[in-house]
Amino acid sequence: MKIAIILGTRPEIIKLSPIIRHLKNNKGNFFIIHTNQHYSYEMDKIFLNELNLPKSNYNLKLNNTKNHGEMVGKMMIEIEKILIQEKPDLVIVQGDTNTTLAGALTGSKLGIKIAHIEAGLRSYDRSMPEEINRVITDHLSDFLFCPTKNQKKILINEGIDKNKIFVVGNTIVDAIFENIKIAEKNKKLVEKYKNTKYFLLTLHRPSNVDNKERLEKIIKILEKLVYIYKIPIIFPIHPRTKINLKKFNINIDKKKIKIINPLGYLEMLLTEKYAQIILTDSGGLQEEACILKVPCLTLRYNTERPETIKVGANILVGNEEKKLLEGIKAMLNKKRNWKNPYGEKVYQKVLFFIENK
Ligand code: UD1
Ligand code: UDP
Repeated sequence: MKIAIILGTRPEIIKLSPIIRHLKNNKGNFFIIHTNQHYSYEMDKIFLNELNLPKSNYNLKLNNTKNHGEMVGKMMIEIEKILIQEKPDLVIVQGDTNTTLAGALTGSKLGIKIAHIEAGLRSYDRSMPEEINRVITDHLSDFLFCPTKNQKKILINEGIDKNKIFVVGNTIVDAIFENIKIAEKNKKLVEKYKNTKYFLLTLHRPSNVDNKERLEKIIKILEKLVYIYKIPIIFPIHPRTKINLKKFNINIDKKKIKIINPLGYLEMLLTEKYAQIILTDSGGLQEEACILKVPCLTLRYNTERPETIKVGANILVGNEEKKLLEGIKAMLNKKRNWKNPYGEKVYQKVLFFIENK
C-alpha cells in the first residue's frame, strides 16, 4: 500500500512523528507532503530534526498566506498535482488545521481513501477555524482514529458508519514517551527546570490573541497571578501572539512574564514536566499536561478535550480572573494521581487497522 502523509504545522509534525518513524524503520511505502503552513525554523525544522524525521518529499510554497480560503485553496492546487502523479492508496491527515482540511478534501475528491488521526473531537464552537476543519475532515474520512470512546459516540451521533471508526488513543502519548527519555538525558536542562518554580504559559488561539482588549485582559490577569503567588510565568511565544502583542502595543511586565522563543519539543517536554501548573489555550498542551501529570488551566470557555477535565487534570477558566485564581488554588493542592485517558502504543494500532482493513 502506498501512503501519502500530509502535514504542515507544529502539532501535526509532533503527533505524526511516531507513525512516520515506524514506517521509515520498516521501509514502508510512503511519502510526505509538507504544506509549509508553518515555516519558521522554531515552528518547523527544529521538530523535523529533533524527531529524526525523513526529509519531506514535497514542500509547498504558501508565501505566508493569511486568509484561510486562499491558504486552503493554494494547498489544494499543489496537493492535487502531487496526488495525481503519485497515485497513493491512502492519505493520512492529523488534527484540525487548514493543512488537515486541504489534504482530506483534495484526496477524497480524487477518490483516495482518507485516514484521519484524532477524529471526532468537537468544541461545538464554530467560531473556531479548527472546528470547521475537524467536522469536514471527519465526514470525508474512511478511517477515523479516535482518542477515546467519547469521540466514537460523537461520530456515530453525526451519522458516520461505525465500521469506519477505531478507538486507538492519541499518538501524542507515543510522541511524549519516545521523546521525554531523550530529553531527560540533558541533565543540565533537567536541573534548570527542576530547581525553578514557574508556571508555563502558551497562548495562540485567535479568540484570545487577535483582539486587543481580550489579549490585554489576559496579560493583566496573568500578571496579577504572578504578583499574588510570587511564581513567574515562562512564556514560549507563538509567532501569531508575538506579532499581535507588537501590533496592539501591549506592554508585558518582563519580570513577571518571561517571554522566550518557541521551544523545540525536547526542551518543551521538560518545561511542561517541571512546571507548577500549565496555563494554555493549546489543544496539545491540554493533552500533554494530563499525560505528564501536571495540572492544567485552560484559558478558554470550551474544550474539545473534555476527558482531561473528567479525569481532574484540567479546568476551563476562560479569561476570568476569579476562575483563574480559584483554579490555581485548587490545582496547586491537587493529587496528581489521575489516569491517562489517551492510551499507549497508539501508532501501532493505527497502522494495524490501516494495513488489515
Ligand atoms: C495553526 C492552526 C491551529 C494550530 C496552530 C499550531 C489553522 C486554522 N490553525 O494556527 O489550529 O493550533 O497552527 O501552532 O490551521 N507564523 C510565523 N511562522 C510560522 C508560522 C506562523 O511567523 O512558522 C505567523 C504568520 O504570521 C502567520 C501566523 O503566525 O500568518 C499564523 O499562522 P497560521 O498557520 O495561519 O495559524 P496558527 O495561529 O499558527
Ligand atoms: N510545543 C513546542 N514548543 C512550544 C510550544 C508548543 O514544542 O514552544 C508543542 C507542544 O508540546 C505540543 C504542540 O507543540 O506538542 C502543540 O502545538 P500548538 O499549541 O501550537 O497547537 P495545538 O495543539 O493547539 O493545535
